[in-house]
Amino acid sequence: MKILGIETSCDETAAAVVESAGRRRLKLLSNVVASSVDLHAAFGGVVPEIAARSHIESILPVIDQALIDAFAENSKKTKLVPNSQLLIPQSDDLWSQIDAIAVTQGPGLISSLLIGVLTARTLAIAKQKPLYAINHVHAHPYACFITETGLNFKNQNSNFKLVEKAPQFPCLALIVSGGHTQLVLFESHKKYRLLGQTTDDAVGEAYDKVAKMLGFPYPGGPFIDQISRKGDSKKYKLPKAKLETPYEFSFSGLKTAVLRLAQKVSGHDYTFPSTGLPEALSEAQKADIAASFQRTAIETLVEALKEADEEFQPKSIVIAGGVAANQELRKQASKKLSTAVTFPDIKLCTDNAAMVATLGYFKAKTGEKPADPYSLDVDPSLKM
Ligand code: KG4
Ligand code: ZN
Repeated sequence: MKILGIETSCDETAAAVVESAGRRRLKLLSNVVASSVDLHAAFGGVVPEIAARSHIESILPVIDQALIDAFAENSKKTKLVPNSQLLIPQSDDLWSQIDAIAVTQGPGLISSLLIGVLTARTLAIAKQKPLYAINHVHAHPYACFITETGLNFKNQNSNFKLVEKAPQFPCLALIVSGGHTQLVLFESHKKYRLLGQTTDDAVGEAYDKVAKMLGFPYPGGPFIDQISRKGDSKKYKLPKAKLETPYEFSFSGLKTAVLRLAQKVSGHDYTFPSTGLPEALSEAQKADIAASFQRTAIETLVEALKEADEEFQPKSIVIAGGVAANQELRKQASKKLSTAVTFPDIKLCTDNAAMVATLGYFKAKTGEKPADPYSLDVDPSLKM
């Protein structure tokens, strides 16, 4: 079974194909991501209008490329017309190999989601394929179920560090991204329980806001991750939010504490504007503040995971989403948790369609009813 995944929930236009490769094995045949992140950097965050326009420009070429990358061996005659805005006419033999389409229905930006969902609906009708609606947050951990890559990836020398064995149930998943911080206990592909989530900012959002205070470009997570290696993470003590249950999170207080700390370290009081901080702080001060913030944020996540690990004794732990690319999180989680932890390849931590195709594969495999391609609607605040 081969599934085409389509993802357009935020600023990445992505398409990918996955294929079953035997018991508990799944092969990634292609993974195409066109990001509009550079266009948003100047604004310090994602501009929905710009993201939607970029999706419109990229969606068809990205899907074409995903099909070509996946099946080029069988379709040597197929060539992608540069800058083509139309699906390639020779694509029928490629489409005949696809068994189903999976598309992100939500959560995300409405104008971005619409492009992916309307494209997928049209293709599902035109190519007569079943269509599966995917929850983006649910899909993130599924990047860990991909065990190998197809032949073409080897030809392209694309290195993916994939899991040797797919995670086992019960599986504890920490999903950490720019929009979400959730701890979920999966009993099976279909049965899962949300143990807790953030009550305010997502951890990735806190990374991005702290990065902005320190004058780093958007998205700030990777910069904080890098610069923290040069700083002293024990230099400053920052508060950790205490909530009613151990599995709920709050990062907005930490963000404010970092602002107050940065103002103080720069020699000013709380009235000093955050926009002046990048100039007022030295590189060494920024590195110490970034490292102290990162240690506190990551310890908070790992402490919650440790508690859930002890309470629920899962067979596997998965950490996924953009923040799962973080080196400190990878280090602390691997050191402090007794159950083996799996992370997706770095390229599959941030938004991609491979995770969408993979969840679609399991939906198809477990007999879930496909969506109606004539009526599937986007849901910007879709819950798990
Ligand atoms: O999963 P993702 O691509 O998009 C959402 O679904 O939100 O996650 C993007 C988030 C951004 O907040 C970005 O700053 C963060 O992931 N991120 C990181 C790292 N790489 C990306 N945060 C910390 N360390 C990183 N290395
Ligand atoms: Zn995401």
